[in-house]
Formats: sequence, structure tokens, C-alpha cells
Amino acid sequence: MRRMDKQYDKVISGFSKLSKIRKIQWIAETFFNDPNKVANTLKGYWHSNEAQQKVLDGFSENTISNFPMPYGVAPNFVIDGKTYAVPMVIEESSVVAAAAASAKFWLERGGFTTEILGTKKIGQLHFKYYGPSKILFDIFPELKKFLLEGAKEITKNMDKRGGGISNIELIDFSKEEPNYFQIKASFDTCDSMGANFINSILEPFGNLLKEFILNRSELKEGEKDVDIIMAILSNFTPECLVRAKVSCKVEELGDFPEGTSSEEFAEKFALAVRIAHLDSYRATTHNKGIFNGVDAVVLATGNDFRAIEACGHTYASKDGKYKSLSNCKVENGVFTFWLDLPLAVGTVGGLTSLHPIARTSLEMLGKPNAKELMSIITSVGLAQNFAAIRSLVTTGIQQGHMKMHLQNILIHMKASNEKTKAAIEYFKDRTVSFSGVRTFLEDVNI
Ligand code: MEV
Repeated sequence: MRRMDKQYDKVISGFSKLSKIRKIQWIAETFFNDPNKVANTLKGYWHSNEAQQKVLDGFSENTISNFPMPYGVAPNFVIDGKTYAVPMVIEESSVVAAAAASAKFWLERGGFTTEILGTKKIGQLHFKYYGPSKILFDIFPELKKFLLEGAKEITKNMDKRGGGISNIELIDFSKEEPNYFQIKASFDTCDSMGANFINSILEPFGNLLKEFILNRSELKEGEKDVDIIMAILSNFTPECLVRAKVSCKVEELGDFPEGTSSEEFAEKFALAVRIAHLDSYRATTHNKGIFNGVDAVVLATGNDFRAIEACGHTYASKDGKYKSLSNCKVENGVFTFWLDLPLAVGTVGGLTSLHPIARTSLEMLGKPNAKELMSIITSVGLAQNFAAIRSLVTTGIQQGHMKMHLQNILIHMKASNEKTKAAIEYFKDRTVSFSGVRTFLEDVNI
């Protein structure tokens, strides 16, 4: 047995079995200088409604408190002719303001239009097979039927809703990795994100595959073994894709600060997007701006932002180089800006119906189906990208950021309403810093 050195003195066994209070107590006493203060802070964020807190606790393991994030709304989003107020969960101060400003800008120019380019989701069964590849491909049509038949019980409800398994392929990777093959299945999961549905089909596929191969007379003994490595959905869904677009005549873009004409703005904007196609350093920041909007709505609607991010970044690298997810063209006096985004989201099942605020978000959006939610999220991503590039190629990003930063500092310093007003005026054309604001508040005579 390993000696319990000093470095292990904060190790605990059976933590998950402790009550919530005991968990907090142990954490507070083990890792903090002022355990009482920490325990009170953590308890201070418990929901006052016990039943509600139970629901939140149930989402995860070892829950000891809640972590509040701002829940904001960006109104005036016109998407495919429908007006939305979009809920956003985000801690970065300028994001909701930027989305709202962009929504308003495009509201006056026809709004956002979207197109669903596909809804295909993917799942994979990874396995080792020891017989000749040719035989496996020869018997594959029969295997496919066998798998579809075997999954019927699980797919019957989804089939009724118009979804289910749309294809099954066999892929030979044995040249890259000895004996490694893959069954790649395509799904339509209708209004659910589909992770549970897909995984619950793929796991039985493993047993069905073993059974099928074992009974094949074409194969010799020793060729009939199949080792299942793993069965899991793929979060890369390049064919679960939506395009959001904005477009107007260049002259309708209006005038911009420092005498920039709409023509100059359009050209500079399009150049900024081209740079994000050329250079991966810029593309990463450019796409981060898109995900500022996307993640905020994904979170607010109880969807899986890690899956969306992972997929989006893989998609941005699909041509062998990490690039901008958005595109822009200025042609025949028309400015067009669009974003293609793979988005596997759901509006039923999972957290979307369990989390009370996620439910509220979906109601705020008019209870959209999954396709409509794809359109909304991508439009917000495009709006966010538009706002960021518009600032970058005109005033610079710091102006807007600093305004919000100033607000936060003033709140933190508990400035009175009068002093807040005076500070906003004073810092209009000055650099905002913590010490600068403190000095101003101390010196100002109100
Ligand atoms: C900041 O969160 C996002 C931006 O950096 C995006 C961009 O540079 O395009 C402003």
C-alpha cells in the first residue's frame, strides 16, 4: 500500500456518499482559511425553493451549490420573417449588447434568413474483425438488414415521428490499424439532440454484430471473433447543417464613424472575413466571436455547448486548415454575409425540458422545433460576428468593451447614481482602469 504522504492529505474516500452539508464542511475545512465564510457563501447560492434545488442537484454529481451566470435577452431578432427575443447565458459583458445592436441593425434591412442544409447525425461502432475484408463486405448487405431489424424495438417511436436510422456503412481501416473496422450509422433524431437515442442503438449493434459473424459459414474458426472496441455517437455532424444569411445593398449599410463610407466599410469588412480564411490565428478569434453568441443561446436552451463547440471547430478545419466559419461577398453593389454551422441541438428531452429556465427560454422563443432552434442559434452567431467585425474595422473593439468594463467597476465600487453618471461622462474619451475609476470617485465632488 502506498504511503499517505503529505501530498495525499487532502484525499478523501466516499465523498459522494456524504450529505451536501458534510461535503461543504469537508471542502471548506480542507481547502479554505475561513471555512465558515466559504460555507455561508456556498449555501447563500442555494435555491430558496427546496424542490427546485433538488432538480438542480439532480443534474450532476457532488453538487454543493449553484454557479450563477447572467441570463440576458437580445430582442428584435427577425429570423425568416418571425421576430424573436433571444435568451442568452453569458458572462462576457458586451456580448448581449452586441447581439441586440446587430439584431436591430438587420431588422431595418430585412432581418436574417436561414436554410437547413441537413439534419444527419452520426454514430460509430468501432470493432476488430479477423476474417478477410472481402467476405465482410460481401455479407454486409445482410448484416445491415440484421442490424436494422434488431434495432426496430428501439427505433419504433422515432420512426413514427419521421426519424430513425437512415443509413449504415462499413468502413475498412485495417490498413491504418490492423483488423480495425467501423460501422458508421446515420440518424435523423427529429427534435431531440439524439445522443441517448444513438448510443442506445449502437451498443446493441455490437452484440448483434458478434452474433451475426459467429453464424457465418463463409468464415473459418478464428475468423469469427469480433472484438467490440467502443460504440458511441460522433459529435462531428457536418451534414446537420444550417446557413444563416444577411444581405442588403451596400449603400443601405449606412454611414460609419470617422467618415467611413458604406462602400469602404463593406470592402474592409469583407477583407476582415477573408483574412480569417487565410490565417488560423485570426480565424480562431473570429470564430470565438461567433461562439460568443452561439454558446450563449445553446446554454440558455439547455443544450450541450461542448458538443456544439467541438463540432464547430472540426468543421472549421474540414479543408485541412482551421478557417473562418463565416463568409462575406460584395458583388454588384450588394453586401452578403453568411454563416454555415453544423448544429446538433434538441428542443425535447434532456435538460431542455428538465431545467426550469431552459424551458422558459424555449417558451420565449415560441417553442421552436430543432430546425427552428438551429436557425435562431446560427443567426445569433452571425449577428455576433457582424457586431465584432463592424467594431474591429471601424472604432475598434475596446470602446464598447470598456464601457461595459466601466459599468462593472462602478457597481463593484458601489458608486452612487450621480457618481456613475459623472464617471460615464468623464471616461467617454479616457482609458478605463480600476485605479483611474477609484481616483475619480474619490475626487469627484457630488
Ligand atoms: C471577443 O470575445 C470576441 C472578438 O475578439 C471576436 C473577434 O475578434 O472577431 C471581438
